[in-house]
Amino acid sequence: MDYEKKDLQSMLLLIDKQHKDIRDSVEALYDACLNPDNKDLILELIYSLDKYVTEHFKNEEQLAEVTGFPHLEHLKKDHDYFKATYYRLRYHYTYYDEETRQYNHVYMFATHLAKTLEEWLDVHIRTLDKELIEYLKEKIF
Ligand SMILES: [Fe+2]
Ligand SMILES: [Fe+2]
Repeated sequence: MDYEKKDLQSMLLLIDKQHKDIRDSVEALYDACLNPDNKDLILELIYSLDKYVTEHFKNEEQLAEVTGFPHLEHLKKDHDYFKATYYRLRYHYTYYDEETRQYNHVYMFATHLAKTLEEWLDVHIRTLDKELIEYLKEKIF
């Protein structure tokens, strides 16, 4: 895939917007997890993060790959950590108990994982993603 400069520019804008949205969603998820009455909202927020785990990471990895970003493997590994944590949160929060035939919502676990994602994002965006963005900007200007 060959990116023109204007494509890179619009991809940078998209990534920036996605970062804002993903941060807001994870923060909202953490807040919602503090109150078990928010059962449906928590579920909604968990599922809304799915598109970031798939789309956003794919966008960044593709860009990193086609432009020769030197820390591509590190970026992918870091994304995989988020994905694994996210899927664990989703699994444990919506875990179906065959015996009782009920969904279990493990709030404590969800809170812990939501906080883990929040902290991970903060570090990831400030380090690896920032390096990628700076690298792409150099390619544009
Ligand atoms: Fe990233
Ligand atoms: Fe990112």
